[in-house]
Amino acid sequence: MTKSSNAMWGGRFAAGPDAIMEAINASIDFDKRMARQDIEGSRAHAAMLAAQGIISDSDANAIREGLLTVLSEIEGGSFQYSKALEDIHMNVEARLKEIIGEPAGRLHTARSRNDQVATDFRLWVRDQCDAVDSALETLMQALLGQAEAGADWVMPGFTHLQTAQPVTWGHHMLAYVEMLNRDRSRFADARKRMNESPLGAAALAGTGFNIDRHMTAAELGFDRPTSNSLDSTADRDFALEFLSAASICAMHLSRFAEELVIWSSAQFRFVVMSDQWSTGSSIMPQKKNPDAAELIRAKIGRIFGANVALMTVMKGLPLTYSKDMQEDKEQVFDAADNLMLSLAAMTGMVETMMPQRDNLRGAAANGFSTATDLADWLVRELGMPFRDAHHVTGALVAMAESKGCDLPDLSLDEMKSVNEGITEGVFDVLTVEASVMSRQSYGGTSPIRVNEQIARWKEELK
Ligand code: ARG
Repeated sequence: MTKSSNAMWGGRFAAGPDAIMEAINASIDFDKRMARQDIEGSRAHAAMLAAQGIISDSDANAIREGLLTVLSEIEGGSFQYSKALEDIHMNVEARLKEIIGEPAGRLHTARSRNDQVATDFRLWVRDQCDAVDSALETLMQALLGQAEAGADWVMPGFTHLQTAQPVTWGHHMLAYVEMLNRDRSRFADARKRMNESPLGAAALAGTGFNIDRHMTAAELGFDRPTSNSLDSTADRDFALEFLSAASICAMHLSRFAEELVIWSSAQFRFVVMSDQWSTGSSIMPQKKNPDAAELIRAKIGRIFGANVALMTVMKGLPLTYSKDMQEDKEQVFDAADNLMLSLAAMTGMVETMMPQRDNLRGAAANGFSTATDLADWLVRELGMPFRDAHHVTGALVAMAESKGCDLPDLSLDEMKSVNEGITEGVFDVLTVEASVMSRQSYGGTSPIRVNEQIARWKEELK
């Protein structure tokens, strides 16, 4: 026995869909997350239809009241979703019909699910941009707190994960503040571009009804209506921009997460992660694993995966709407959920982690990290070309290495054996403290510069 045909569009159908057809076609299991946006869009549309004299005020009132009832059923958990009704748009409209009867049938005048879904989804992604923005700000505040607490603490700076030059803890924390701030501006920029209303583009060509798209755009908080009905229904750039901003942000979090994994290891001991953000091992009683950091390190996989997936869905699609585009939502929902979760977990870890000042300082002095300072001293005091100074310093590093000591532990005579001109004054630049103090170029790691940046960020994030 076949099922009866669809109540919303089944006019020309004698039989209902195969069960598997229904399974592949339905999006209600995931697009129910856009219920609030769908109802908002419908309320704006109905009010506009009445204002334009396309439906009566009493029908518009019935629709408005009915939609509120539907929303409260959805939010209260009593709403019965139906797979046969495919998606959130038809589920809401069908329930509205049960509640208010005939006027419900007038809501879809001068509208299509194509502009409806484009509108709902833009509203949803726009909300996410706002949520991500505030989560990013909270994480930046946490990093700023860490930067302030250890603005002048010396730690090793790395290139190739090899000790390079001493830097300050505050400087390292602020590096992430910069990255996250660029992430915020990417989301804000994407939000600006997506903030145009596709509602009223109808199926693809616009409508013959005398609608007011500016009214619905304003009602929904959009800056203006979109200008081309074909583009309005076919476009998913806004979702792709969200996913690419999310991917870059997740990449930043992944890099920091990796540092936390390294820093919290027994070999580094730069930070102690709080118990709240660590897990134990079921067999090794001594273990404290940085699982949250590891998971954040991994989340870029699915978030960038979503970006690739949607880009691949969209490539080659002819204008305008194709059902392929229904594959947009799960990718964006999953990416948004996981980005928000990562941001919250990272914030928790940053707020509670305990940097180990002595270990940072100790590691900073390893690996001849002040060799560049020595070379710079030879340039400054002896007028040597930098290339020659680099060579002399290399010889001194080799000497220290063969003696198993650090650069400041070489005697003046040993230094002089490599270069006659070296004087006692060289020892002033060989400590890690002197090294970071000297790096006062704009944007440099010196505590003076770091404290200026901390002050700037505190002002900016106030
Ligand atoms: N569930 C659909 C989607 O998510 C809604 C739009 C369907 N429009 C259509 N003409 N079949 O894309």
